[in-house]
Amino acid sequence: MLETRSAVYKMMKEKAHGERQITSWPPSFSSELTPYTVTDFGGLIKRTCDSKSLTLRICKVIVIGDVAVGKTALVNRFCHKLFDNNYKATIGVDFEVERFDILGVPFHLQIWDTAGQERFKCIAASYYRGANVIMIVFDLGNLMSLAHCQQWLNEASRSNVSPYHIFLVGAKKDLLSQPVYEIIEKRAAETARRMRAEYWAISSRTGNGVSELFTRVAALSFHAMALREMQSMKLEPINIGSATIMDASQPKAIRMAGSPVLENESGLEEDDQSILSMLSSLDFLLLGLLIAVAAWYSIWRRSRQEDHNIPGPKSYSIQPTSFVATPPSENSFIKKLKSSGRSLVVFYGSQTGTAEEFASRLAKEGIRYKMKGMVADPEECDMEELVHLKTIPNSLAVFCMATYGEGDPTDNAMEFVDWLKNGDSDLSGLNYAVFGLGNKTYEHYNEVAIHMDHRLEQLGATRVFELGLGDDDANIEDDFITWKDKFWPAVCEFFGIEGAGEDVSIRQYKLTEHVDLPADRIYNGEIARLHSFQNQRAPFDAKNPFLAPVKVNRELHGPTSERSCMHIEFDIEGSKMRYDTGDHLAVYPVNNAELVNKIGEQCDVDLDTVITLTNTDEESSKKHPFPCPCSYRTALTHYLDITSNPRTHILKELAEYATEPTDKEKLKLMASTTVEGKAAYQQWIVQENRNIVHILEDIPSLKPPLDHLCEILPRLQCRYYSISSSPKLHPTSIHITAVVVEYKTPTGRINKGVTTSWLKEKHPSDPPCLVPIFVRKSQFRLPIRTSTPIIMVGPGTGLAPFRGFIQERDLARKEGKEVGDTILYFGCRRSKEDFLYHDELAQYVENGTLTLHTAFSREQPQKVYVTHLLEKNKEEIWRVIGEQNGHIYICGDARNMARDVHNILLKVVMERGNMSELDAMDYIKKMDSQKRYSSDVWS
Ligand SMILES: Cc1cc2nc3c(=O)[nH]c(=O)nc-3n(C[C@H](O)[C@H](O)[C@H](O)COP(=O)(O)OP(=O)(O)OC[C@H]3O[C@@H](n4cnc5c(N)ncnc54)[C@H](O)[C@@H]3O)c2cc1C
Ligand SMILES: Cc1cc2nc3c(=O)[nH]c(=O)nc-3n(C[C@H](O)[C@H](O)[C@H](O)COP(=O)(O)O)c2cc1C
Repeated sequence: MLETRSAVYKMMKEKAHGERQITSWPPSFSSELTPYTVTDFGGLIKRTCDSKSLTLRICKVIVIGDVAVGKTALVNRFCHKLFDNNYKATIGVDFEVERFDILGVPFHLQIWDTAGQERFKCIAASYYRGANVIMIVFDLGNLMSLAHCQQWLNEASRSNVSPYHIFLVGAKKDLLSQPVYEIIEKRAAETARRMRAEYWAISSRTGNGVSELFTRVAALSFHAMALREMQSMKLEPINIGSATIMDASQPKAIRMAGSPVLENESGLEEDDQSILSMLSSLDFLLLGLLIAVAAWYSIWRRSRQEDHNIPGPKSYSIQPTSFVATPPSENSFIKKLKSSGRSLVVFYGSQTGTAEEFASRLAKEGIRYKMKGMVADPEECDMEELVHLKTIPNSLAVFCMATYGEGDPTDNAMEFVDWLKNGDSDLSGLNYAVFGLGNKTYEHYNEVAIHMDHRLEQLGATRVFELGLGDDDANIEDDFITWKDKFWPAVCEFFGIEGAGEDVSIRQYKLTEHVDLPADRIYNGEIARLHSFQNQRAPFDAKNPFLAPVKVNRELHGPTSERSCMHIEFDIEGSKMRYDTGDHLAVYPVNNAELVNKIGEQCDVDLDTVITLTNTDEESSKKHPFPCPCSYRTALTHYLDITSNPRTHILKELAEYATEPTDKEKLKLMASTTVEGKAAYQQWIVQENRNIVHILEDIPSLKPPLDHLCEILPRLQCRYYSISSSPKLHPTSIHITAVVVEYKTPTGRINKGVTTSWLKEKHPSDPPCLVPIFVRKSQFRLPIRTSTPIIMVGPGTGLAPFRGFIQERDLARKEGKEVGDTILYFGCRRSKEDFLYHDELAQYVENGTLTLHTAFSREQPQKVYVTHLLEKNKEEIWRVIGEQNGHIYICGDARNMARDVHNILLKVVMERGNMSELDAMDYIKKMDSQKRYSSDVWS
């Protein structure tokens, strides 16, 4: 796609020239005529650019609009400084590539100049696909071309699923006098507002506004793409300030709003007499002509439609999904709180749903304490409104925030946390409390919550109750309910609320059973878009996974091993999916059919009944707990987590349905926060490892209505795997290395990991076994220069990403490039049992690509782990990292290994580098910020 002459020529340039360097945020044409309210790149993006870790490169801009409106002139003016007065129509399409350097990061606009004749022809779809920016050009002197803009947009949006920016560009401004222009601008502004586009007026002849327009296009799309890359899971809609980039995954009825009703869009309003009085007679003549032509066209079109019964614009029904895009007008949480008489808002920063669940529980409980609550996703809210929360009497904001990676916020909280960190808003009068979700095995334990609690206070907000910290390595449920138990009395005292109300359970969703729903209206496991599994369309992401055929599934363990580790290759040929070495692959699993059937039997329900669960809270952006309508079987198979230990609030709700009094009491006890209750929960649920199926089996008098169970069970989450291949060697397949989870519980049951036990049965076949996947970008990257030496520490499946790293370095060496030392520390139990990729690694050692250190923990009387080898090889480590500026990578178990490696590294730096402990810590921190010390760990 990028091989035209100019593309190649320009992509090869070392640096963008002066005008194409963007270091500060470029303004819009008019601050009132844009839906994009972002005013700077933001600290997070700037820091990420500084660290050179962004991989984004190119943004596709499609320039569309009627024939002869000035599209080619505009593109030429920008790309070649050329204005061709002898206009020649573009035949088909062509594109140009222009390089920018934005905050020092190379970024290319690939600008597609399209022929204006292809309006409404399906051939255009292929040119439009994958656009990051839709630029609709009209001729300021030809209002008819403005009237067509909405239709152009509709056409282009149909071919795009990713979020994109929309620009409405009026060309040939130099041909209009100022008063005429002002009148036309009014019309154009109205159209732009309806299209949710940013408006510009330019002149290709004089060059006025052209460069500014494309600079703005580059900055906005760079900003969105950088955020997207950083968030990569929750792609759409990306809220920038209060604006939403249009997203084709939004319900179509919303996306298509502002249908092309010509009489509204082509006519001029003759309301501004004062401006009219300034017009010259020539202007009047021109204007009159324009109005007459537009009016005639409008009548002609309408009569043609009536005569020939031409259908109007296609109307789309709204397909409810659990991913609900919030239109900009709904971003005001203050408005929602006020309109529904609430005073409590609970925000969550959540990746895998725990913080969201905790937030919902708190919001729901508020009613007991006369604080009607609402749960809110910071990504869907205008968080700057926090400064106004005090206008609601006795209001309270609670934040349930999880920490990830290296003390990072979750994707949905990234922008909010950045705003809080770098902004200086006055938050006095804001009452708040924070509960953090983390895991002590990670180095940056609960950093997001700790920082947020502190920062809110710094900005003047009032802490109503002390920071709570949950540890997922121990018992986060216990931490939460213990904190919550003290939180509510503190809230009551703070606001002078007397006496808690009754503790009643209120259903959140209303059940509808469908009898005659056509099959094609029913979800069958799709994550968001109905029929997305039959009708696969790139780009693929968390909401739109690719159904990848399994190409290879082979056992990596030897015959004597009691465990199993799979090498799986997914075929991504033709999917347009791309990945980088070190990225993660997400897999959407399916629950075991036997477990699903057991739930149906215990609840006495026909699992093939088709249902819809609808939120009774109309203010909530989450209309359904999972894609509806679907059958109970689909919900239990694809959407609900039926294998983890249910939390206490689930037991509390279930208790109502146990008909045996002792069973009821038992469930109630385990849901309580008494010492006895907590111990019972810990023993019966956590230690004995019971999931919902086990609970229903072991308490026969418990027969909950299945719809209520579906309402309270958490969502089944995708699982991540470090990609174990390099795209340089395997561009059309993605490899993973996954150990099968299977263990016996104290009750004698065999528990099987949802994803790994499902994948174990997926083998190459005809028709192929299909697995829903998407790629999640990571920061785990090889050094840019192959000559930089690297040390990789990856015991067990921690080897996965390093297999890709080694493949890439081996290829570079074979291509004659200078390749630095590539050193791997691998550990497992026994060389004959679980030495993953033994043969491959041996070959790399033999051909000189790899230096391998192995630790077989059970092959001698005393245990030997990779950390023991590292301790022995301090000299080598210092040579690589201290003397040769090399990189060190750690992958695998977060619980012990990562921390131990960190401590050894500290020792090496102190001893060999002759530094104090403080200096050594500083040294490692610096390595960390330079991406020379990276970890990809999980527990
Ligand atoms: C960024 C990242 C990268 C990852 N990369 C890899 C990779 O490359 N390879 C890989 O194999 N995995 C990897 N994982 C882990 C992977 O995502 C899954 O968690 C794992 O495969 C288990 O998924 P499952 O659905 O089969 O098991 P689940 O159904 O999720 O069951 C796993 C759960 O069972 C419980 N459990 C497991 N064993 C026992 C036991 N003996 N006793 C009691 N309870 C137990 C634990 O609660 C555990 O969380 C990665 C995780 C992350 C976050
Ligand atoms: C890949 C990964 C990285 C994590 N990193 C951290 C971390 O740096 N610090 C921390 O305290 N907890 C960390 N955690 C633990 C999570 O914050 C914790 O499990 C939390 O409950 C998740 O909440 P959520 O389900 O709402 O996303 C990590 C968990 C995973 C899976």
